[in-house]
Amino acid sequence: MSDRFDAEVQAHAEDSIQREVFGTRLGFILAAVGSAVGLGNMWRFSYTASEGGGAAFVFLYIALTLIIGIPIMLAEFAAGRKSRRSPIGALRAAGGPKWIPVAFFYVGAGFLILSYYSVIAGWVVRYAFEALTVGFPADAGAHFEAISTGPQAMSYHLLFMIFTTIIVMGGIEKGIERASSLMMPALFLILIGLAAWAFTLDGAGEGYAAYLQPVWGDLLDRGTFASAAAQAFFSLSLGMGAMLTFASYLSKDENLNREAAVISFADFGVAFIAGLVVFPIVFALGLQGAVSESTVGALFIALPGAFAEMSGGRVIGALFFLALMVGALTSAISLLEVVVASIIDEFDIPRKRAALGAGTLIALFGLLSASSLDTLGLIDAVAGELFLVIGGLGLAILVGYRMEGAREELEKGASPVFRSLIPVVFVFLRYIVPPIVIFVIWDRAMNVWTVIQTTYLGG
Ligand code: TRP
Repeated sequence: MSDRFDAEVQAHAEDSIQREVFGTRLGFILAAVGSAVGLGNMWRFSYTASEGGGAAFVFLYIALTLIIGIPIMLAEFAAGRKSRRSPIGALRAAGGPKWIPVAFFYVGAGFLILSYYSVIAGWVVRYAFEALTVGFPADAGAHFEAISTGPQAMSYHLLFMIFTTIIVMGGIEKGIERASSLMMPALFLILIGLAAWAFTLDGAGEGYAAYLQPVWGDLLDRGTFASAAAQAFFSLSLGMGAMLTFASYLSKDENLNREAAVISFADFGVAFIAGLVVFPIVFALGLQGAVSESTVGALFIALPGAFAEMSGGRVIGALFFLALMVGALTSAISLLEVVVASIIDEFDIPRKRAALGAGTLIALFGLLSASSLDTLGLIDAVAGELFLVIGGLGLAILVGYRMEGAREELEKGASPVFRSLIPVVFVFLRYIVPPIVIFVIWDRAMNVWTVIQTTYLGG
């Protein structure tokens, strides 16, 4: 075992000479925030909050981010930066070859999530483009029905995969870091502007109430707890090695603890503010009926319907969908990067070829989700929820119990305050994260079963 470990360390020491790195600390943070901030924040968060507990949900979400989100993010950072490898090599280095199957899970999750994420992002691209050229359609429901599946959906999905693949082909510093550094600040500015504008709307008060009215009793519901936890995983891009892979490109001994805090805070902030944009708009036009139907219904039907009716709605709507597109793109990049980095590391294939190959396969597989919303929903329930929580459990156990040098890795560059918290992180990884996550795995597995029954077995 120790020979193997030494050989591994040796190999890394050698190839780290050539490994790509982020140019600046800010570049790394923006890329990681770019991964975290995406479709999950801009709509799913506020929708889930309004369905289960309002402000009570928000508190639960913050608590779960601190209790399971940040420890798992730190576990990913430690495994990635120490090994300087993408998931397969990182798990092998931290736990030995037995752990490689877990990493295949990660790469598989990246592949599957991107395949449908890109379909949804394709709808977003289309809405943004239409807002700029022809405006929002009067009958948003019929419009969505026409474009959400079939050849229309496929073309925009393919277009979005082309953008994503081109950026990843550019590499870490010239592709991902540069794209995130340009796009993330734009997203923040647009979103804050939109929130300020939404505040002036007539229905704003009602909208805020529908979003945040606390219902503490909802917290006792098993489903609320599990969906808050699953939402935290998805929103923070945890459980499939995306943060791990980004950390593997860090060259300096930055304070990983501080970065995890900054990234989690930014991710939560964007999710929270997006709710402050969306709810007043929907309520100002009395479209709340459409909200309760489904997550996609609200984002792609209720909101565009509101933009079509309100004065200035076209400009506001264009900005909103552009911000959403930017968020989706920087997230998609990170999903593809996990797959691409694994191919580069394990098979020594040059980046451009690896990105092109992986991007093409994912684009083709995504055609399944672009032809059926049922398929899209099923892959989301399996890979976007269940796989992530399983992956998170694996990582908590690996880093909490087995990986050598994990603590030292987190101590590097840590200020005294953060340093004193590191033992707490390990207590969480060992004793608190696993039981909570096992409970969530069980709940999400039941959910997958429910989805299969209701959509495929007519139950
Ligand atoms: N976090 C992104 C969002 O909220 C999606 C995402 C990107 C993701 N990379 C990920 C989710 C890795 C899980 C794992 O939309």
